[in-house]
Amino acid sequence: MNIKILLLNGPNLNLLGEREPGIYGATTLADLESALQSQAHALGAELSCQQSNHEGQLIDWLHEARSWAQGVIFNPGAYTHTSIALADAIKATGLTVIEVHLSNIYQREAFRHHSMIAPVAWGQISGLGPEGYALALRALVKRAESQLV
Ligand code: DQA
Repeated sequence: MNIKILLLNGPNLNLLGEREPGIYGATTLADLESALQSQAHALGAELSCQQSNHEGQLIDWLHEARSWAQGVIFNPGAYTHTSIALADAIKATGLTVIEVHLSNIYQREAFRHHSMIAPVAWGQISGLGPEGYALALRALVKRAESQLV
């Protein structure tokens, strides 16, 4: 069975590359996704990439993923700090989620220091730029492989 991972990006992440590049860097979402697709391929996994600015859409994708994904790399954007609904969706689905942030949310404004997602995530990576997604992918694939044996 092929290991299948979902990459989920939340609000405003479609603007990566042009959005506050001093904070989020110059890499576009398309570049990030294609680099991750290649990495997934090299690891023998399949990666499906989705981005939405809408909370309900993100919830629907999480619900769908419970029937096919072995793990989720999730940058919920600002919903990280506000969304009980996304946290509930992760809990309800039982999906293994790694929360990823390009910036170090703990070095920024106080309202970014709290994550609603962290308590229901397997782990959190914050502040490593696009490398954080790559590390999350590696960790999820490794975890899924160890569960196959
Ligand atoms: C972010 C951090 C959030 O606080 C912010 O609202 C984002 C991006 C990050 O990747 O660093 O939209 O999740």
